[in-house]
Amino acid sequence: TVLKVLDNVPFGQVAGEHLFFALRLERPEWTNWLPGQFVMVRPSGWALDMLWARPFSICRVSPRDLVLFFQAVGRGTRRMATLKSGDEVLVWGPLGNGFAMEPDTPTLMLAGGIGIAPFVGYTHHHPKPWNLHMEFGHRMPLNCYPFESINEKIMGDAHHETSREDLAAFIERMDKRIAEYAAQDGLVLACGPTPFLATVQKLALQHGARCQLSLETRMACGVGACLGCVTKVSDDMTASGVAAGRAQVCEHGPVFWAHQVTL
Ligand code: FES
Repeated sequence: TVLKVLDNVPFGQVAGEHLFFALRLERPEWTNWLPGQFVMVRPSGWALDMLWARPFSICRVSPRDLVLFFQAVGRGTRRMATLKSGDEVLVWGPLGNGFAMEPDTPTLMLAGGIGIAPFVGYTHHHPKPWNLHMEFGHRMPLNCYPFESINEKIMGDAHHETSREDLAAFIERMDKRIAEYAAQDGLVLACGPTPFLATVQKLALQHGARCQLSLETRMACGVGACLGCVTKVSDDMTASGVAAGRAQVCEHGPVFWAHQVTL
């Protein structure tokens, strides 16, 4: 589907340069989606070396728009940072599976970096947002995630806390939180860079928490065809139809139970 850009709002700077963007596109025809699912996006008219599309977690789909967050780190995403109102992008999706939605279960959302995107969607989907608790960690300057400025457009009623202490303190805090949620048979959901997910996975397994991880990986096709996103998975995933302990993140994920993946 070709969708028009409504706006592309920067929010977060390093060395005077904007790093994070909230890309708002016109509403797609599909309305059924789950937080954790993603879309593949390719701006129209990219040069040949940028032909490959990029995967982006769905932040929100509303009657007015489709919102995606992205971090301008590589050549493709830096180019995406220049998208402006009226530009056109090619979007296909929603793809992959989503996070478990258990309205009566206390749910802890742990976001690392731009991994916050699916949890914004979660707050829109979840019928009882007061049961949700969100924490996120980053090593960016304090002006990242200025929710005050994007709340109105994008955020629901999430309860969130910024984590601005050092990494060790943040891990200690996550450890405590995960233990709390494990004790009440809650759900722990995490999205972020692989080292962040590996930490959450370790803590969740230690505490016996029910935990799902949304993996970040490079993708080329997004539909299970190119095998460019294969990851190692446990035997019980093999039993459920995934070949030889290896699964495509785009097709069998990006959300996996913590005990199923090797990070
Ligand atoms: Fe092609 Fe997953 S991106 S198989």
